[in-house]
Amino acid sequence: MSNDLFSPITLGDLELPNRIVMAPMTRNRANQDNAPHSLNVEYYRQRATAGLIITEASPISPDAVGYPGTPGIYSETQVAGWKDITDAVHAEGGHIFIQLWYCGRISHPDLLPNNATPVAPSALRPEGDTITYEGMKPFVEPRALESSEISGIVAQYKHAAEMARQAGFDGIEVHGANGYLLDQFLRDGSNQRTDEYGGSVENRMRFLNEVLDAVCEVWPNNRVGLRLTPENSFNSMSDSSPQEHFSYFVEQLNTRQLAYLHILEGDMMTKERNVNYPALRHIYQGIYMANNAYDKNRAQTALANGDCDLVAFGVPFIANPDLVHRYQNNLPLNEADQTTFYGGDEHGYTDYPFAE
Ligand code: PHB
Repeated sequence: MSNDLFSPITLGDLELPNRIVMAPMTRNRANQDNAPHSLNVEYYRQRATAGLIITEASPISPDAVGYPGTPGIYSETQVAGWKDITDAVHAEGGHIFIQLWYCGRISHPDLLPNNATPVAPSALRPEGDTITYEGMKPFVEPRALESSEISGIVAQYKHAAEMARQAGFDGIEVHGANGYLLDQFLRDGSNQRTDEYGGSVENRMRFLNEVLDAVCEVWPNNRVGLRLTPENSFNSMSDSSPQEHFSYFVEQLNTRQLAYLHILEGDMMTKERNVNYPALRHIYQGIYMANNAYDKNRAQTALANGDCDLVAFGVPFIANPDLVHRYQNNLPLNEADQTTFYGGDEHGYTDYPFAE
């Protein structure tokens, strides 16, 4: 029998009851301490029937922040807030990984300690504006990291991985996607370094490899997932040869036996897909999670064709806390209200109705 969304799957030593994953989604509803609180507990509890929840991206240190209201994973207060969430999800029989995030050039001095200049592989300013506490402001030109600074950031990843264990998560997802710091190193549109962290694919992957080595000292490798985006142009990203370069990255990951590889396929903005994802999927020997604008039918077809093992759904989970039940029973879906995606209160967050 071929796989479908409602068939169980073994992820390392975890048994997931279905293949429907809640994708990581920024919702900007943390409290003053950038910590999760009771409102966020309710949001994740409502969605615990997902086979796996991946939390919204969580900054690994004050230096990693890039947006207001994003819950971090570096302080005791944040760990306590997340612990209430993992307890609630586990009480409902669910599983939850936290996504570890460092924004790099997708930040602003207003958001950083001592109004620091954001860091990046190279001093290349992203196009456009970003959100600060005082509204939209243009991105600034980032400062290129010294190679001697990388180990300090790797140590921040390791610390966050330890905090994630204390907070009771089932695992972590390293955010290597969407134009944030690790992705800025992977892709050559943003990485123009000439040291051991730039140039060849080996060098561009070095920082990610160091981060994976560090977090796998804290977590078993089968509790560590990784998200990549070969061709997402979001955050002014580009690469000269995504098929070739990401084939190399994916091939290299095989030896690690991670929990899963999570690929946002195509472009988040235009939904265009130019990379051959089944080809990448067949290079990868572990569990492959597909994401980006899947609906139930597309997901079932992809699973049946062997093009993925898990599918992560984003927007449908915002509006349908009981998405698994609705998909399983072919029930209509609630529509998501885009105006309440980022920031605000329970409205558009925990008040979407469950099916009768
Ligand atoms: C966002 O806040 O818009 C955002 C955050 C993390 C992502 C993608 C988008 O991976």
